[in-house]
Amino acid sequence: MNRILVTGGTGYIGSHTVVELQNSGYEVVIVDNLSNSSTDVLDGIASITGKKPAFEKVDCRDKQALADVFKKYPDVKAIIHFAASKAVGESVEKPLLYYGNNLGSVLNILELMGEQNVGNLVFSSSCTVYGQPDILPVTEDAPVKPATSPYGNTKQIAEEIIRDAVYADNRLKCIALRYFNPVGAHPSAAIGELPNGVPNNLIPFVTQTAIGIRECLRVFGDDYDTPDGSAIRDYIWVVDLAKAHVIAVERLLGNKNRKGVEFFNLGTGKGLSVLEILNVFEKTAGVKVNRKIVARREGDVEKVWADPAFANKELGWKAETSTEEMLATAWAWEKALAAKRK
Ligand code: NAD
Ligand code: UFG
Repeated sequence: MNRILVTGGTGYIGSHTVVELQNSGYEVVIVDNLSNSSTDVLDGIASITGKKPAFEKVDCRDKQALADVFKKYPDVKAIIHFAASKAVGESVEKPLLYYGNNLGSVLNILELMGEQNVGNLVFSSSCTVYGQPDILPVTEDAPVKPATSPYGNTKQIAEEIIRDAVYADNRLKCIALRYFNPVGAHPSAAIGELPNGVPNNLIPFVTQTAIGIRECLRVFGDDYDTPDGSAIRDYIWVVDLAKAHVIAVERLLGNKNRKGVEFFNLGTGKGLSVLEILNVFEKTAGVKVNRKIVARREGDVEKVWADPAFANKELGWKAETSTEEMLATAWAWEKALAAKRK
């Protein structure tokens, strides 16, 4: 049997990926310390797939506990490593937490891969490694720019650690997926994004404002060098993103001769400004979002969107879901959460 170990599997992207893995016939074991998620997510996954995934409450910084998971599940063939702390602002305030968690976990995973002879890794990276690219859309060959936050730096350093580890041990191979901006939820509204406290990210803030939890969305900057002055990103539906992980796993498992680390941009290829995506949301949801323009947010890049051609060609994968559809799922999820609170 092919079992996939998914660290951070009760988190936002992890839970959607577990659904796609199970729907593709894989057995899964989730490892999560529940620092940013809860076991309720397991019920959400089960309601979609009909099967509750195996779950181990383990901190990836605890190597012995992680080694015990490998012993308990000797059929693990690949690891998808999502587990990380991901709040950019918090990483500036607590850099050592971010370096310790994000890099400590990667070191343990890589060491155990060698020790347990599990050679296949899919790693969650980010388009943050490109900083503000000189050329858009950005390809995988674009230079990695100095990070603007400790969080961003952990992704750059983790990519380098993985590159060196894979070079040194030819039993290991890795696919590093550089996500652009994942948004939305599963169409069932049984799982979705559960931000802790006040959301940092745009779409959860938009849906929480629309439903009345937040008073007003702050649009960070209208003086960028973009057509409407607000910053541009490449928003990708989380389910499309999740499906790319299944393909990445199949690519690793399917070709025993594949070597080294491959990097893929996971985006749509389309950039949307903050004001544009707000307008699409208002039309799709049929609600107004109270907003005000404020100063730029420190550390934000002006514009970035992917050239996904390499991922499209090599992985045979494409993110085709429209902005309207992805935002509709984000709104359905927010409404489902509101219904649960009543
Ligand atoms: P998330 O916070 O929803 O999920 C991460 C999960 O990892 C959580 O369930 C958390 O409890 C768990 N976790 C954290 N540290 C752990 C540890 N030491 N041991 C075990 N579990 C631990 O975040 P997400 O949005 O699903 O992000 C998943 C991955 O994708 C992260 O590596 C993140 O950096 C990366 N990423 C996310 C985005 C985004 O916008 N969401 C963009 C680019 C990259
Ligand atoms: N924005 C607002 N108001 C808000 C929140 C965001 O105007 O309340 C703007 C931001 O300034 C930015 C855009 O909306 O222009 C998107 O912001 P997000 O915080 O949603 O996303 P980022 O592009 O800043 O960063 C996200 C993740 C990072 C990851 C990066 C690239 O938070 O972890 O995508 O993958 F590194």
